[in-house]
Amino acid sequence: MIKVTKNTNLLVLTGAGISAESGLRTFRDSDGLWENHRVEDVATPEAWHRDPKLVWRFYKARWEQSKQAAPNPGHLALARLEDWLGDNFHLITQNVDGLHTAAGNTRVIEMHGALSSCLCTKCGVRLHLDEVDMSPELPACPKCTGRLRPDIVWFGEMPYRLPEIDILLQNCDVFLVVGTSGVVYPAAGFVQMARYLGAKTISVNLHPSEGLGFFDEFHQGRAGEILPRLVDKWMAE
Ligand code: OAD
Repeated sequence: MIKVTKNTNLLVLTGAGISAESGLRTFRDSDGLWENHRVEDVATPEAWHRDPKLVWRFYKARWEQSKQAAPNPGHLALARLEDWLGDNFHLITQNVDGLHTAAGNTRVIEMHGALSSCLCTKCGVRLHLDEVDMSPELPACPKCTGRLRPDIVWFGEMPYRLPEIDILLQNCDVFLVVGTSGVVYPAAGFVQMARYLGAKTISVNLHPSEGLGFFDEFHQGRAGEILPRLVDKWMAE
């Protein structure tokens, strides 16, 4: 078993699977649809240009849904891990639901954006949705009246904070990957990179994910059950 001690530099990558036990659906459920929509109808720049009202309706609904969701024992275990490891802990998430922050994690990189914020397509300002009049079908920037868009990284767009992520991958001793199918790049390539650079790699997932061969250790099951046990064990050793 890979050991994690107070001196271990631990980097975590999470995906939709960690929020499944909070009642939020993952992307690649068996029907291949995301909350009844094809990904290309709501999560691409082309979809935004074609039908921005549909895209906003979709993300507003996701935002309302995420506000009803609460962190589960998997999120809370990662918050305990950060309390214990301090600056030796970093978390990259592909999720946009804000549940890691709600659980108490502070060293979080939301590489695919956040449902709680939006961007002005004219002046570039980033705003919390609570600061914006969300009643129009196409919300407008309160600063310049430009059109606002969801602060989500869509397919074909560049994920946020990649240079920082690169440094974290270079410096980590252990790379823990939780609840991601490992098919969406660049996140899917992080395990290979971390391992190549010398980190030990651990996967926690309900099912074997893509790239399983790059993991030194695989824990199959629900994140909400496995993570609390792993964290207890590491902290007790
Ligand atoms: P996916 O839906 O592709 O994968 C979810 C993963 O979680 C699968 O591997 C499941 O086996 C696993 N899983 C489900 N329930 C679990 C549980 N309770 N405990 C542990 N694992 C569980 O979601 P992501 O990999 O996050 O991008 O998807 C990556 C990106 O594709 C998303 O960030 C999103 C999407 O399109 C954008 O929106 C840009």
